[in-house]
Amino acid sequence: MTVRSAVRWAATHGAMRVAIRARARQGNADAEILHDPSVREDPYGHYERLRTQEPFTGGAFARVSVHHDVCTEVLRDHDHFGQIGGNRTEGLPPVLQRALRLAGPRPSIGPIDPPSMLAVDPPEHTRYRRLVSRAFSARAVAHLRERTGQIAGELLDDLARAAPGDQPVDLVARYASLLPVTVISEMLGVPVGMRRQFLAWGDGATPSLDMGLPWTTHRSVERNLAELDAWFRGHLRRLRADPGDDLLSALVTSTDDDGSGLSEQELVATAALVFGAGFETTVNLVSNGTALLLAHPDQRRLLADDPSLWPNAVDEMLRVESPVQRTGRRVKQDTTVRGVPLAEGDLVLLVLAAANRDPQVFEDPHTFDVTRPNARDHVAFSSGIHFCLGAALARMEGEVALRALFGRFPDLAPAGAGRRRSTIILRGYESLPVTPGRPVPASSTPAAEGSSSSG
Ligand code: HEM
Repeated sequence: MTVRSAVRWAATHGAMRVAIRARARQGNADAEILHDPSVREDPYGHYERLRTQEPFTGGAFARVSVHHDVCTEVLRDHDHFGQIGGNRTEGLPPVLQRALRLAGPRPSIGPIDPPSMLAVDPPEHTRYRRLVSRAFSARAVAHLRERTGQIAGELLDDLARAAPGDQPVDLVARYASLLPVTVISEMLGVPVGMRRQFLAWGDGATPSLDMGLPWTTHRSVERNLAELDAWFRGHLRRLRADPGDDLLSALVTSTDDDGSGLSEQELVATAALVFGAGFETTVNLVSNGTALLLAHPDQRRLLADDPSLWPNAVDEMLRVESPVQRTGRRVKQDTTVRGVPLAEGDLVLLVLAAANRDPQVFEDPHTFDVTRPNARDHVAFSSGIHFCLGAALARMEGEVALRALFGRFPDLAPAGAGRRRSTIILRGYESLPVTPGRPVPASSTPAAEGSSSSG
């Protein structure tokens, strides 16, 4: 088991680390971002070094684009581009590809491994997505707004109790992480009492999205994924025997047009993806959004004076501090993008966070402006058929969570520098110390008031 795991690491992350380090030494801006966590503290200047007139620049190991129009074109062209999926070995020397075949795939399923919908192309993608999409429609999400407001209120009560006399508290541990995991647990029908365990598994597993992991992180990722996988298999078995009124129960009992249901692998992949995506990203929206408002009192004042700006503010937060910084696609058949020929099998990396600061689309792109008229044109939720399934839910949660927080604690203030997560693809805070200040009574906090953001 350990030997196989070591071979898998050496042939993928290990080899990639060597290549990234070499390119970083040559001054490649993309490789520097991947290689050096301190660069990732503030990657935006580095992204600008990639912004040339050309549609793509040479990245650490693939072509990279930071342009909004190029990213959108690639993400929407499903004839020529597909998911990277399990084929993350392309470009590896044949000897490493052989080693990887011998080691075999990881026994547990990860959120971005096939058959996760995020890792496959149509027709499989269409089938998996259809089975869960209704639960995430704007209409379904609108029904969850009130309950989300209640959850926010309860967590803020706890926060007020935890920090009497204005002691510092960690906003991530106490609020930003707990709100989304509670909401998605209730939706899916997984026990809310286990939410801290889920957060621990989720945090341990999310580096699996990144490439070039150190050995110890890779080991910890495999362990966390294995535990999560085993738990989900047991849980789905229990639901099959005794289904409830929740999304996972609906999934285990659902059948396709031809009468067949999802296989065990497909079920676990779908459940784990929807669950993990449901909290590992929104936590970053809430923590990034809090940090942005703490750093921009003028914007905070605008929101206090005109709460109808909140939905737009959430999109502006997603634009300037995108929780998912990049994604990638594989060329399915030879094509040309803006005059650049791309061959079948090539990888293309799309830096969503940089596309969201493209001066061709966003005026004064590095400025955080909650009144920006086209904030919603960002690609933080991607584009095309893999456009985030949970976008309406995330927008609603972000708005309810932040509005409730700043409404209940008008004097909320930073209490020292936060610590960023070290992940490459996901950007957010591991911890964000704040002093809440004196709370406004809960009844006067408009946490769950309606707005258009869930549409
Ligand atoms: C601020 C929060 C969120 C952000 C920034 C975000 C971002 C993204 C992005 C960029 C993608 C597409 C990646 C690609 O094209 O390669 C995606 C896909 C997805 N997201 Fe989200 N997400 C968020 C919240 C959520 C939530 C709350 C859920 C709830 C279930 C969710 C579920 C999914 C799923 C299932 C997919 C795969 C869709 C598909 O492949 O068709 N996400 N998300």
